[in-house]
Amino acid sequence: MNGLIFMEVGKFAQARLGAAAWQRLARDAGVSHRVYVPVANYPDEELVGLLNVLSAETGVPVRGLLEALGEFVVPDLISLAQSVVQPEWKTLDLIANTEGAIHEVIRHAGTHSNPPYLRCRRVNEREVLVNYSSPRKLCPLACGIVKGVAKHYGETVTLAEPTCMLRGDAACQIVVTLV
Ligand code: HEM
Repeated sequence: MNGLIFMEVGKFAQARLGAAAWQRLARDAGVSHRVYVPVANYPDEELVGLLNVLSAETGVPVRGLLEALGEFVVPDLISLAQSVVQPEWKTLDLIANTEGAIHEVIRHAGTHSNPPYLRCRRVNEREVLVNYSSPRKLCPLACGIVKGVAKHYGETVTLAEPTCMLRGDAACQIVVTLV
């Protein structure tokens, strides 16, 4: 996983638990030797380890933490992608364009970063269907990002997940509806 996501876990932990949280978390997860940088990738297991420690410390299940982390990272993701995020886009436009305009570009940015393949279909003006599949099975993060995007644009969305890899399906379908 790209270092950017690890940096966000650090920021998230500090925002929730105070300035000393990251050092404590990194020590308890056995990664205190690391300096995570956004141009490098790190083992997914380190992310899992950090989230498990954070979950033990906060009492929040990993799934809930991933969703909250997803919401939390959106302002930084949008700022990272500001050159390709079109000014007229709102929530559903950004989500429908993430694969082609953002994830695909990042995949070829020379960092060997590997964002998930999102297949998105604009069903109508108020609905986008997101098909997410990744060996990482981080659909709660995806749902959190969707909510964070809506928050960024001052809109409200509802989410339904008729299929989910965490329930044994081959892929997650996330139906995003603008309220
Ligand atoms: C401004 C928009 C976005 C940017 C700049 C962005 C960028 C990234 C980056 C850099 C990663 C790390 C990839 C890696 O380490 O290999 C990532 C992962 C991820 N992104 Fe995005 N993303 C954006 C929007 C979205 C949206 C809208 C969704 C969901 C609908 C999404 C879902 C995910 C998920 C679930 C992961 C975790 C990795 C995985 O599941 O395999 N992203 N993204």
